Amino acid sequence: MSGDALITVDGLVKTFGEGDAATHVLKGLDLEIPPGDMAALLGPSGSGKSTLLSILGTLMQPSGGHYTMLGRDLISASAGELTDFRNHHIGFVFQFHHLLPDFNALENVIFPAAVASGRETRTARDRGRELLRRVGLEDRIEYRASELSGGQKQRVAIARALMNQPELVLADEPTGNLDRESADRVMELLVEINKEEGTAFLISTHDERIADNCRRQIRMVDGQVV
Ligand SMILES: Nc1ncnc2c1ncn2[C@@H]1O[C@H](COP(=O)(O)OP(=O)(O)OP(=O)(O)O)[C@@H](O)[C@H]1O
Ligand SMILES: [Mg+2]
Repeated sequence: MSGDALITVDGLVKTFGEGDAATHVLKGLDLEIPPGDMAALLGPSGSGKSTLLSILGTLMQPSGGHYTMLGRDLISASAGELTDFRNHHIGFVFQFHHLLPDFNALENVIFPAAVASGRETRTARDRGRELLRRVGLEDRIEYRASELSGGQKQRVAIARALMNQPELVLADEPTGNLDRESADRVMELLVEINKEEGTAFLISTHDERIADNCRRQIRMVDGQVV
């Protein structure tokens, strides 16, 4: 275990169900992610990529193993501590953007900051606007999410993921729902943010072209990293 790692995972186990109905998804998985990493998470459908991302995002409890991020033991942390940790250090981008359709782009982006601080501040609105400019949507700030294209929604989701300046962004098939051109734009944006801001990305994908754009490929087979 390296003391400098952003994330250290040791012998991670996840089993759904019990007895004959048990599905063993993660079977003693080891993984280390350094700060500022740009890694693709690959593996066949059902290999446990989304399960792993949910656990790393502290949205799901593992059945066993060790998990530390930024030196914090996230297995023994309480639910309240996890919520707080997640809000400050981890951003999420999903295949389906999960934007609030009746909120405009800016409101969607500043939502995590409003949740973390309990109110919507001027500083948050300024950063939200800056992030929307960053993802090329300065002319869509006031548009409701329902009025944006798929690629634009996903760029709003990326801006939202970056709102609280997380050290790590977990992306589960962020381009899975996009045409080739939009997928390329989204990926270019992630690479750029990684280079310029040093945010670490772990991106699950079935697209080898996306994986080629990452610095590192992590392959999951049979509940382990190979
Ligand atoms: N809540 C659950 N209850 C029972 N089984 C589950 C649950 N969530 C996931 N699984 C099982 O865990 C396995 C891994 O699922 P997961 O969604 O992590 O795969 P994946 O690698 O993300 O696949 P895909 O590439 O299709 O998204 C699957 O066999 C799935 O059926
Ligand atoms: Mg998945």
